[in-house]
Amino acid sequence: MASSSSTKGKGTVSEIAKHTDAEGYEMPWVEKYRPALLEDIVGNSETVERLKVIAEDGNVPHIIISGMPGIGKTTSIHCLAHALLGDAYKEGVLELNASDERGIDVVRNKIKSFAQRKVTLPAGRHKIIILDEADSMTAGAQQALRRTMEIYSNTTRFALACNMSNKIIEPIQSRCAILRYSKLRDAEVLKRLKEICQMEDVKYNDQGLAALIFTAEGDMRQAINNLQSTFSGFGFISQDNVFKICDQPHPIILKQLIKDCQNCQIDQALSRINDLWEKGYSAVDIVVSIFRVVKTIDDLQEYLKLEFIREIGWTHMRILEGVGTLVQLGAMIARLCKLTLPPQALKI
Ligand SMILES: Nc1ncnc2c1ncn2[C@@H]1O[C@H](COP(=O)(O)OP(=O)(O)OP(=O)(O)O)[C@@H](O)[C@H]1O
Ligand SMILES: [Mg+2]
Repeated sequence: MASSSSTKGKGTVSEIAKHTDAEGYEMPWVEKYRPALLEDIVGNSETVERLKVIAEDGNVPHIIISGMPGIGKTTSIHCLAHALLGDAYKEGVLELNASDERGIDVVRNKIKSFAQRKVTLPAGRHKIIILDEADSMTAGAQQALRRTMEIYSNTTRFALACNMSNKIIEPIQSRCAILRYSKLRDAEVLKRLKEICQMEDVKYNDQGLAALIFTAEGDMRQAINNLQSTFSGFGFISQDNVFKICDQPHPIILKQLIKDCQNCQIDQALSRINDLWEKGYSAVDIVVSIFRVVKTIDDLQEYLKLEFIREIGWTHMRILEGVGTLVQLGAMIARLCKLTLPPQALKI
């Protein structure tokens, strides 16, 4: 099982559950449950399989892992490096992330001197340079990498992680195998959350976990963080508690709002929007949440759903252009209601 193997070698589950950091504060669960082995990584199974094959035969190409935040890119690279180098990890890996200085000088000096350094590694293995959040490196620094990657490729391999692979310059992309991670499926996040709940002895109900998945949108880091915040805030994972912590408009209210639009009850819909506005949610919060809820409503005809999404999309754009007012939201509600009016009602 993923969770049990991730805790291998660190003590029993109950010991780990009590584990706290030096000051006695509880560790963030995202770090505590960061997978240590490739087989513990949840989701993207085909890509992870490829990494396992690479780890087994040791024939590493330069790689780029790209994908949205919190889905296991950094974790995968570290697991791969551990699998390849074992005890030699400390000497054999140089990690540079966005918080390190990574200008041209660093590429010229630090990376080069690491690449030149002699290190004893298991037979057939290479040193690994991890460039995390590589899309934040300047184009100049990336240019400086081109030749370095080639010259030292007999001893050193590069592993890059980034959110947007198009921010990596073409020549570097062409030197690397690009692995794309997609966002995690609901079932995958759910399984992991349940495992953590069990290990941390967290009480929950199914709607609570569903709310965590809804708010995280395939981002495992966010799901785990929200789980921990809700647990430390309320001690129980229920839908209401999760939405209080995540501070998003409650989907049930939004569902009712869309129902009102579907039934062309504009007064009721406007008063719901007003309530949300008075609670302090911003126009973007409201419109993004409405979008996510509309997608999940089953009894909205396909045609209407498409039209609703189109209107919501236009409103989102206008809000991002700077007009995030209550009037803007009201206008959206009016347009949604109008879509459901019978044609004869529109005759003047
Ligand atoms: N696929 C996964 N399987 C298990 N845990 C995961 C997975 N993805 C993320 N996590 C959890 O989320 C935390 C953050 O993951 P990670 O640092 O790998 O994200 P990332 O993809 O590198 O994100 P970013 O783009 O923000 O750097 C991990 O410590 C782990 O607890
Ligand atoms: Mg990362």
